[in-house]
Amino acid sequence: MKNIVILISGRGSNMQAVVKAQIPNARIAAVLSNNETAAGLAWAAQRNIATDSLSHKNFDSRLAFDEAMMRKIDAYQPDLVVLAGFMRILTPEFCRHYEGRLINIHPSLLPAFTGLHTHRRAIDAGCRIAGCTVHFVTPELDCGPIIAQGAVPVSDHDTADTLAARVLEAEHLILPQAVADFVGGRLKISGSRVIRNTGAQLDARLLA
Ligand code: GAR
Repeated sequence: MKNIVILISGRGSNMQAVVKAQIPNARIAAVLSNNETAAGLAWAAQRNIATDSLSHKNFDSRLAFDEAMMRKIDAYQPDLVVLAGFMRILTPEFCRHYEGRLINIHPSLLPAFTGLHTHRRAIDAGCRIAGCTVHFVTPELDCGPIIAQGAVPVSDHDTADTLAARVLEAEHLILPQAVADFVGGRLKISGSRVIRNTGAQLDARLLA
């Protein structure tokens, strides 16, 4: 069994998608948040998953918060830490501590649109295709080796909200698959690239 710790800041729909996928050999050891009122924490607690929170507002520096969060995470001996809507910029110390076992879901087709407001920016740029990316986390924001991507069309009538909803459906497919591939030992980092050995697909739509 591989221990997975998931970090969230709010709703937690990506975390829910990972839990619901019931990934073989994966145990969701804990769901942690920087926001004690994150809706996803209550959802996980109802399913008897360990939950905890630590408010960044109680710390003087980014590093002090990250170090305290690392202590909480490490108590669960994670094989993999998943950032699923964890809205914090991480220190290099945090990234290095979990190097090769820290992944993030980002709501754009990286390397386009790192950072925030990705859907508004994709629409304003006239993109016809938008999407999401799962990547290994490195100290440079939203720049680590790409594991998986999901693409969706952008319509002329899209608002940032309608596009976000369409992208979110793709997020819920690629994040559980990326976790399953990691747990199944199918991901290998080669320089800046991730090589994925073919294996079981959780969802037939990913083969389309
Ligand atoms: C998701 O769209 C995720 O890609 C995004 O936050 C949302 C969280 O939703 N993450 C980022 O923007 C990270 N920079 P969720 O809480 O329902 O999973």
